[in-house]
Amino acid sequence: MKIIKIKKILKKKGKEPICCLTAYSKSVAEIIDKYCDIILVGDSLGMALYGMKTTREVKIDTMILHAKAVKKISKRSLVVFDMPYKTYSNKKLAYKNAHKVIKLTNCDAVKLEGGKKIINIVKHLVKKGIPVMGHIGLLPQTAKKYKIKGKSSVQKKQILEDALSLANSGVFAIVIECVLESLAKKITNQVSVPTIGIGASKYCDGQILVTDDILGMSNLHPKFVKQYSNIRKIIEKSVKNYHKDVKLKRFPTAKHAYKF
Ligand code: KIV
Repeated sequence: MKIIKIKKILKKKGKEPICCLTAYSKSVAEIIDKYCDIILVGDSLGMALYGMKTTREVKIDTMILHAKAVKKISKRSLVVFDMPYKTYSNKKLAYKNAHKVIKLTNCDAVKLEGGKKIINIVKHLVKKGIPVMGHIGLLPQTAKKYKIKGKSSVQKKQILEDALSLANSGVFAIVIECVLESLAKKITNQVSVPTIGIGASKYCDGQILVTDDILGMSNLHPKFVKQYSNIRKIIEKSVKNYHKDVKLKRFPTAKHAYKF
């Protein structure tokens, strides 16, 4: 199953845009599964659900609970587990944790942040049969500031090299976060595997966004996000009406009560 799903993703490069979103819960996964090629259980859940300041605080056991719920309900999409900060610092630790994650959650693949610096770890996981998705450009787990990457020629060269080494090490796709359009285009043209952009322009083989951001659930509005609804407003309106009904004793009515 895993292999078939990954082969399908690989075949889409340059042919059909790959649609990806994040999910942290059963209900969201259930809704998005039929529209997504890939669902990422992202460590962005630290900020989105737990009010953390950075993804560095996210623990692997928290991620496992969410990933189990997402994977159980997802029938169509490839489900990728985002390995949290410091859970893949060396080959041994990375395999121990990735193996545990796959065994406990049944996820199809793991995602690691980094390029050339973590290439031995990526190669080791791939050799051990764990499908890996790369992540280059802006790396939230280690970045000091949230800013666009690839402006200087040194950075451009380094990010392109990261992409090429990841592709040569057997990753099945690469997330490119917050880089200049021209660099995303160059990487997409040069690597053999699909590139998935987030703030990386239309010149990627696919796109990923945080579901909470497109729904207007989070209060984050980066330039690269397109917001498709305002869930906060919908929740606020519903709760306001419920509050009014309870206070005015308009709820519950006979319709909501049990009688003999
Ligand atoms: O954690 C996350 O949600 C991500 C993004 C690529 C969407 O890594």
